[in-house]
Amino acid sequence: MNKMQAFVRLSPDHKQVELKKVEIPSIDEHEVLIKVKAIGVGIHDRYFIPPTALFPYPIGIEGAGVIVKTGKRVNNFQIGDRVILSSSMQPKGGCWAEYVAVSSDAIVHLADDLDFTEGATIMVAGKTALESMHALNLRKDNTLFVAGASGAIGTLVIQLAKNEGIRVIGSASSKNQEYMKSLGAEETVDYANPYWKKQVKQWMPEGVDAALAIQPGTGSDSLDVVKNGGKVITLSGDKVEPKRNVTVKQLQHKLNMQQAISELVQQIVTDKVKVIIERVYPFEDALQALEKTETRHARGKLVVSL
Ligand SMILES: NC(=O)c1ccc[n+]([C@@H]2O[C@H](COP(=O)([O-])OP(=O)(O)OC[C@H]3O[C@@H](n4cnc5c(N)ncnc54)[C@H](OP(=O)(O)O)[C@@H]3O)[C@@H](O)[C@H]2O)c1
Repeated sequence: MNKMQAFVRLSPDHKQVELKKVEIPSIDEHEVLIKVKAIGVGIHDRYFIPPTALFPYPIGIEGAGVIVKTGKRVNNFQIGDRVILSSSMQPKGGCWAEYVAVSSDAIVHLADDLDFTEGATIMVAGKTALESMHALNLRKDNTLFVAGASGAIGTLVIQLAKNEGIRVIGSASSKNQEYMKSLGAEETVDYANPYWKKQVKQWMPEGVDAALAIQPGTGSDSLDVVKNGGKVITLSGDKVEPKRNVTVKQLQHKLNMQQAISELVQQIVTDKVKVIIERVYPFEDALQALEKTETRHARGKLVVSL
């Protein structure tokens, strides 16, 4: 048995993703082979493939599973270990598959108290949320506007900020106002309300200390609600002209992934941070999950279970 089911890109055309039988990848000495149990779904899934990808190429960048084989030089993980994984840009393919080969640098032990679906949500949104908090560098009682606060990253950022005593005002549509409050946002606005910036200013007349612009196209509007000399961190490549001494930066990847993720896992285990999963899809319906994430209206995370 050396074949597996995988959702693959068949060509450079990212629109074409299909379920196919493909070879189970072999592993190098620094890699492990993981039997995938759950997949975290996100906007990058069909796009993030290496330039050298051979087709058919299994898509997918984050998941959780059990190690079934280890390379000769892997010494901190063993067969049978439950792990969470990043398979972003792996030459041998991603984790929308029954098995995935990844470097032992790209996995973290999954705590016994967490199940695979929870584990699968952590690697991308979790790391990005931690890096965002690091880049924002705020202190207790500072104020933070989050554009896209009900999504995968925002759901974690609200909680991480609240835990540090940072006061959050979150932006999403009307259906997510109570949701953002339940996570710890002190105030919320609906981006469809033409007066939402005024509402932020009613809350903080000078403007907030900082903004995190998660959703594409939210950078400039976020800057408008930041006080003079504050900062904006953008996550989706928005080009924003700085003004009023507000610093604008795109998020840079600075944290050691394994250490940061292990710390976040501990916060989830101890219930300091909750993982919110809108829906778990069976593997055969994974393309529905992809379509849903691409609407940019998922709440928390979407997960595929195998
Ligand atoms: N730089 C990095 O390292 C990095 C890493 C990962 C991701 N990203 C970027 O982050 C983005 C994805 O973030 P995510 O996974 O958290 O997104 P997500 O889960 O898809 O976010 C969906 C949420 O965003 C809300 N939303 C949609 N449009 C909005 C708007 N105009 N203003 C405010 N809220 C809005 C939706 O609420 P409603 O349904 O209520 O509208 C929904 O709950 C992508 O663009 C990706 O490229 C960057």
